[in-house]
Amino acid sequence: PRKIIIDTDPGQDDAVAILLALASPEEISVLGITTVAGNVPLDLTTRNARIVCELAGKTETRIFAGCDRPLKRPLVTAEHVHGKTGLDGPTLPDPTMPVEDTHAVDFIIDTLRDEPAGTVTLCPLGPLTNIATAMHRAPEIADRIQEIVLMGGAYFEVGNITPTAEFNIYVDPEAAEAVFTSGVPITVMPLDVTHKALVTTPRNDAFRALGTPVGLAVAQMTDFFERFDKEKYGSDGAPLHDPCVTAYLIRPELFTGRYINVEIETRSALTLGMTVADWWGVTDRAPNATFMGALDAEGFFALLTERLARL
Ligand code: BDR
Ligand code: CA
Repeated sequence: PRKIIIDTDPGQDDAVAILLALASPEEISVLGITTVAGNVPLDLTTRNARIVCELAGKTETRIFAGCDRPLKRPLVTAEHVHGKTGLDGPTLPDPTMPVEDTHAVDFIIDTLRDEPAGTVTLCPLGPLTNIATAMHRAPEIADRIQEIVLMGGAYFEVGNITPTAEFNIYVDPEAAEAVFTSGVPITVMPLDVTHKALVTTPRNDAFRALGTPVGLAVAQMTDFFERFDKEKYGSDGAPLHDPCVTAYLIRPELFTGRYINVEIETRSALTLGMTVADWWGVTDRAPNATFMGALDAEGFFALLTERLARL
């Protein structure tokens, strides 16, 4: 299995991404889950990560709390999407599993130093603060990362938190810039892909029909998560942004995209956090990321439902 660190700000869609990874031990070995401030403040994202691991029955998973604010800016959160707790929808028990004493950034650095070079993949599902901080503190780790597969950015879909920016990149654009200029192989799941992973009513019914605590909780999470995009964008079901990352590790053939140049806007007040993606190759800027654009949505939901049934 592929060794990964999931860096996350749960979030209902983060939760489903984590569940999919934990349900797929043949393909994915989760070395640890690192939390970051994003959708809600750090204490809540850390709490939610514990709730999700307990829901999955994987209390041996190691969870590390990370940075509580972006590198240079005040934290922007998204309770309007995820609810006050960040995981509104299901009623789940208070978590009892521990959080590790080690800071998430130290765990990321130590793991990349200890594991053989090129064997650990980072999976950021929130603002890139922890990853950028680790690279800044220990620049030599960049060469040792197998790949970064992240959810963030947009091209044709433009933005969701501002007219031109996707939330994860917008919250910490300086961190995103550090990651996109690091030279590490990067695969990006932008809104262009994640807005094709929509939980329509039949798909949500399939989660519920699993008849398990996990199936029910996921159905209730997506019920809650859906209402924002439905009201705002008229979308047909909740977009499962972050599970695209973990699904890609299991079934990369579900996704297609292009290896292109992507730059992060960090200066303009108007377009802060925009991912300026050269999809058409109209500049001579060197490609630095594989930007996905298309998804086999039926295949994606078949995989997700089948894997959630295993928990
Ligand atoms: C991203 O922002 C968060 O609200 C979601 O969890 C996802 O990671 C989508 O823009
Ligand atoms: Ca997220």
